[in-house]
Amino acid sequence: MNPRKIIVTSALPYANGALHLGHLVEYLQTDFWVRYQKMMGNQCIYVCADDTHGTPIMIRARKEGITPETLIARSYEARVKEFGAFEMGFDKYGSTNSEENRKLSQGIYLRLNEKGYISRRAVAQLYCEHCGMFLPGRFVKGECPKCHAKDQYGDGCEVCGATYNAGELEAPYCAVCGEKPVMRDSEQLFFELEPFRDFLAKWIPAHTDSATAGKLLEWFNEPLRGWNISRDKPYFGFEIPGEKDKYFYVWLDAPVGYMATLEQWAAERGETLADWWQDPKAEVYHFIGKDIARFHCLFWPALLEYSGYRTPTEVFVHGFLSVNGEKMSKSKGTFISAKTYLEHLPAQALRFYYACKLNGTVDDMDLNLDDFVSRVNSDLVGKITNLASRGAQMINKSCGGVLGKMDDESRALLAACRDKVPEVLAAYEKRDFCRVMVLVREMADRANQLFDAKMPWKLVKEDLEATRSVLTGTLNLFRVMAICLKPILPQYAEKVEQLFGESNTVFADINKDIEEIRIGAYEHLAARVDAKAVAAMVEASKEDLKATTKTINEKDAKKAVRQLATKPAETVFPEPLAPEMSFNDFVKADLRVAQVVAAEIVEGSDKLLRLTLDIGEAKPRNVFAGIRSSYAPEDLLGKQVVMIANLPPRKMRFGISEGMVLASTDPDGSFRVMQPLTPTAPGARLH
Ligand code: 2FM
Ligand code: ZN
Repeated sequence: MNPRKIIVTSALPYANGALHLGHLVEYLQTDFWVRYQKMMGNQCIYVCADDTHGTPIMIRARKEGITPETLIARSYEARVKEFGAFEMGFDKYGSTNSEENRKLSQGIYLRLNEKGYISRRAVAQLYCEHCGMFLPGRFVKGECPKCHAKDQYGDGCEVCGATYNAGELEAPYCAVCGEKPVMRDSEQLFFELEPFRDFLAKWIPAHTDSATAGKLLEWFNEPLRGWNISRDKPYFGFEIPGEKDKYFYVWLDAPVGYMATLEQWAAERGETLADWWQDPKAEVYHFIGKDIARFHCLFWPALLEYSGYRTPTEVFVHGFLSVNGEKMSKSKGTFISAKTYLEHLPAQALRFYYACKLNGTVDDMDLNLDDFVSRVNSDLVGKITNLASRGAQMINKSCGGVLGKMDDESRALLAACRDKVPEVLAAYEKRDFCRVMVLVREMADRANQLFDAKMPWKLVKEDLEATRSVLTGTLNLFRVMAICLKPILPQYAEKVEQLFGESNTVFADINKDIEEIRIGAYEHLAARVDAKAVAAMVEASKEDLKATTKTINEKDAKKAVRQLATKPAETVFPEPLAPEMSFNDFVKADLRVAQVVAAEIVEGSDKLLRLTLDIGEAKPRNVFAGIRSSYAPEDLLGKQVVMIANLPPRKMRFGISEGMVLASTDPDGSFRVMQPLTPTAPGARLH
């Protein structure tokens, strides 16, 4: 069979954010899959790049008094080193701020414009006169126009789930400086999606998993909104050809960065982008998190299809990472950066553990730190690596370092393990890495049973040649496992290759028997993970936060807010004060102690919990609270909370909400529900 020609990408990380263990869920699984494809003899090219454009990068560079180019060059260097430490095997790691990307992005835009798919509309946008810029969604906060929850970002409400434009926020304030912005009209360019309705309605279910497709197709119940692809200056990005002071929105040129990086890779070997991207035999796969499916399965295929490029073969969507069963939290030290991890633990342990947990679905994945320690120690070190260390060390010590012929039982077990290899490969193909691990663990269990039954440590005193046969069998069995694990543990597998005098092993080499050769010196393959190192890592991750808090205390608060606002996905902390209100306004709010008599998850919403609250009235209140990321229903059941009881009932997608529960937001974005200090009569009023 001809080798497949496969192009693989992972989402491009923002140049201004630090890599963390959540990001690595994606990069590592992509790397496993790419390495597997290469070991199958396929031509598989893995490209990725820094995502360098956008307002946050521009603002951060301003703050540091450097150019955005200097900022992204600095972060590129650090990023490449970190990825290297995690054994990532990109064929090319680029940057979206490249000439190739500029030309491709502009070319795609010009073709769409020629075909009439770009329209212009005046958009009234919030403009901060103090900062001298239009405020993108994440840089403005205010009151949700639908449910009136306070302090919501300009792109969507975390309480009721509504999405809207920043201009629709009530009582908006600039998240950078806290000033009240003004409305200014500005003409923006829109990529219209409605003409692609039929194309997309077919494309989406054919190119992604059913859960993702189902979610995306919900948008099709209404006319598809055009996508604003322009941003006004000041902006760090590519200028839109034929326009004055307008730039492409970062999300337009980011995915084009996949192609631009591939183009750079191809050019280095005298080929063109078309030789790969446009080759009808080539397959293109994007690995992404579920939060960015909209960009990859809606805008991206439409952009490609209608500008004359091929669309991806499939978009592989994965879920989020939780740590110890909860959302990663800076205050708990579970928001762990790649850098902090590497300061305490070996990269290969994380590769091993993630493989144990990843099953190729969109389900969220949990990193349980105790389980992490025990899996690495008992499976990787205890079950698998011990076969090599005991086998090789005994051969070197007692048998002159020379392998013999395998004994019959080992040969039979080896054949049985090889029979399992097609299943291992099928699991790899489906990205079901956890199945790979189960199969390899089973091989290790059987090899250990045989080793223990043969008792080579005793046998060696009686029959050296029989011992040599047993150990030869053990090492051949171990070698099969090491090759099966090579996509997951590449450096480990290379050391194993050296032990057997091999290099560049692929899956086809699994069928080779290694007999009657002199093996190399045994090099240490995997260390046990010390629970103390894990605890120290968690502690150090808390310290990162302490450092941030200290900055806030020492410098003036506005400056800190500005600094933190450059992290787009996180809460600005401390938040700027809302505009002053009158005493009369305050007393209008009727705050009551409420008893949670029922709490449940709301099917179809990631954010909401449905609470039934007793405030001493005849009928308990039904309240939807957007706190699911921080609380399970059982955490709240039977507890007392505080609610605003005199809001008008609000119709939400899932029913009527009859009030709001008070909660504060931690710096990491997690919620803490307000509770009375001592048990209080339900319905008691707060003053
Ligand atoms: O969400 C993010 O982190 C983006 N930087 C991902 C970009 S992926 C691609 F489209 F470039
Ligand atoms: Zn401002």
